[in-house]
Amino acid sequence: MRLKGKIATVSGAASGIGEAIARTFAREGASVVIADINTDGGHRVRDAIRAAGGTAEFVEANILDTASIENMIETTVRRFGRIDVLVNNAQTTAAGRLGEIELEAFQRALQGGLVSYWYASKCAIAHMLKQGGGSIVNVASVSGLAGDFGLGAYNASKAGVVNISRVFGIEYARKNIRCNALCPGPIGSPGLKAMDDAGNPNIQRIKEAIPMGRLGTPQEMANIALFLASDEASFVTGSFYVGDGGLWAHSGMPSLTGIEPGGW
Ligand SMILES: NC(=O)c1ccc[n+]([C@@H]2O[C@H](COP(=O)([O-])OP(=O)(O)OC[C@H]3O[C@@H](n4cnc5c(N)ncnc54)[C@H](O)[C@@H]3O)[C@@H](O)[C@H]2O)c1
Repeated sequence: MRLKGKIATVSGAASGIGEAIARTFAREGASVVIADINTDGGHRVRDAIRAAGGTAEFVEANILDTASIENMIETTVRRFGRIDVLVNNAQTTAAGRLGEIELEAFQRALQGGLVSYWYASKCAIAHMLKQGGGSIVNVASVSGLAGDFGLGAYNASKAGVVNISRVFGIEYARKNIRCNALCPGPIGSPGLKAMDDAGNPNIQRIKEAIPMGRLGTPQEMANIALFLASDEASFVTGSFYVGDGGLWAHSGMPSLTGIEPGGW
């Protein structure tokens, strides 16, 4: 078991990537705090982990509310005595052309997509310092490494998440606290998966842009988060790990040689 005896809090763990991370961590021996605004979904994941023999609690949390973030961390420490791993995964954002998004929508996107990651990390670090170490995994995106049409607020928040992961990583490197970002490409969490299953043409276009020709799975992202959270990544900090089927490796240039993905 790769997280035996560890205490882990995962935000947005009632669905998708967060759910897969919570279930995987529990399977690997961690006691998991499922933090989410969705109580039904959170209870479902908690009960599934318990039914599989794992240890899990649910805490209702809204990452747009700083008091709720504090409560998420404090509830973890009250219940289990410490916090070894924090996974910041829940986020909120806004779509629209960068030059047209309303000020309030942009600020809210950064509040839910960046400030919340920083604040939860700050709250967790206070405990990690006292207990002598910890690991933070920030779920960012390949959208934090380049730009997307119509997703500028998301691009800004995810780029910020990648860079605060670097700074937390270097500032706490000698305090045995590691911090890394995970950058998924398009993943078949329930939202995208339902569109994919329905044959949505936009999902087809996304898959065509991915060299592997398919969406990733939440479990594939959980596998990376598990590595980053665990002691196996003991020399990895301030870094980011991409899981995107090759999407980010492509410059975006069209093929000038006739060699196309899938063109075998
Ligand atoms: N799915 C993708 O294609 C993809 C790609 C790159 C990055 N990501 C990132 O992965 C993370 C998870 O994405 P997903 O697609 O698995 O999401 P999802 O929609 O399946 O799950 C998100 C969870 O967050 C919870 N949540 C939403 N707002 C919240 C709030 N204010 N407070 C607390 N919880 C809240 C939801 O209830 C839900 O359980 C996000 O940070 C997302 O940006 C996803």
